[in-house]
Amino acid sequence: MTRETEPLSSDSSPPGGDHAEPLSHAAGTLVIGSLRIDPPLVLAPLAGYTNLPFRLLCHLGGAGLVVSEMISAKGLQYRNHKTRSLIATCPQERPVALQVFGDTPDVLYNSVRQMEAAGADIIDLNMGCCVPKVRAAGAGIELMADPQRGIDCAAALVEAAGVPVTVKIRAGLYDGDMRYLDMAAELAGVGVAAIALHARNAQQQMSAPADWTCVAKLVEAVDIPVIGNGGLTAPTDALAIIEQTGCAGAMYARAALGRPWIFRQAAAAIHGRTLPTQPPPHIMAIALCHAQMLALQYTERIAVHQMRGHMAHYSKGLPHALALRRRMNTVHTLEDLKQLVCEYLRAS
Ligand SMILES: Cc1cc2nc3c(=O)[nH]c(=O)nc-3n(C[C@H](O)[C@H](O)[C@H](O)COP(=O)(O)O)c2cc1C
Repeated sequence: MTRETEPLSSDSSPPGGDHAEPLSHAAGTLVIGSLRIDPPLVLAPLAGYTNLPFRLLCHLGGAGLVVSEMISAKGLQYRNHKTRSLIATCPQERPVALQVFGDTPDVLYNSVRQMEAAGADIIDLNMGCCVPKVRAAGAGIELMADPQRGIDCAAALVEAAGVPVTVKIRAGLYDGDMRYLDMAAELAGVGVAAIALHARNAQQQMSAPADWTCVAKLVEAVDIPVIGNGGLTAPTDALAIIEQTGCAGAMYARAALGRPWIFRQAAAAIHGRTLPTQPPPHIMAIALCHAQMLALQYTERIAVHQMRGHMAHYSKGLPHALALRRRMNTVHTLEDLKQLVCEYLRAS
């Protein structure tokens, strides 16, 4: 792993080059600008989760493309230390998209240089976030509420960037709001290379069932690749959304938490195969590896703090998961975490 200024290795193999298995024709292909995303399986941006260590695990777990958590264009403009730490990438996770949010074309335009210098293969614009803080700043879903501003923001990124620009949108602001179709066509018109659609509208927030028919409508409406997102939980769901909607790629979000290997299982499903589920010792080994990587990238304290959340996901469905989660509150160091995992595995 690396910090922004210190690449871990000088490996400059082409993005996506280590995913050897060719894609089945039935599942289509995902090409974004000059990048072939193979398999066409994308880790979604997840604020608080898809930092460099977790993205790297998902890349190793078979993702064809990983996306950072959202990064404030204003924070980059003001050289905010925390924001700058979010743009760190490393060659081993490539291809990687850095997702930016903002409300003004100029500020977004100016953010591009830093993201490209940090190693972004793709720059993704957040046009779907409904979190009050982001909305209050006029960003995220507010760019869909004011379509012309949204298009201008995307156009500014396209103008500034030497890498492809993608946009992640929602299926409108409320039930029956079809503006996402017109907006997507206009985004394609200003040079956006692909669109990820979260198949819920803004009113539906996160818990309503996703409506994949929106994805099918978008595929019909634009001639750039569409990446379907929303409600993919099982490894077979990637193939399902691709087959049902004709989308070029499938994006896993919450389902990847505690399961960074879901992409390899989904890729196998695309080829008609089923991979065995991970046994508890493997899951715990991956969790410990995750903790070590977080400590390397940040600090041991931050790693332990973040692992409290991640362990709840890693332990989902395992025997005695509740007791394990409770005991996570007593963990203060990586050594404590190792001990806890060893005791858990011995006892189960
Ligand atoms: C904790 C959390 C953080 C998220 N952060 C972002 C983000 O930074 N940018 C973004 O575009 N979407 C974000 N999303 C939305 C997800 O990328 C995705 O669209 C949503 O979870 C729907 O997919 P799912 O049903 O497979 O979880 C976030 C969602 C969650 C649950």
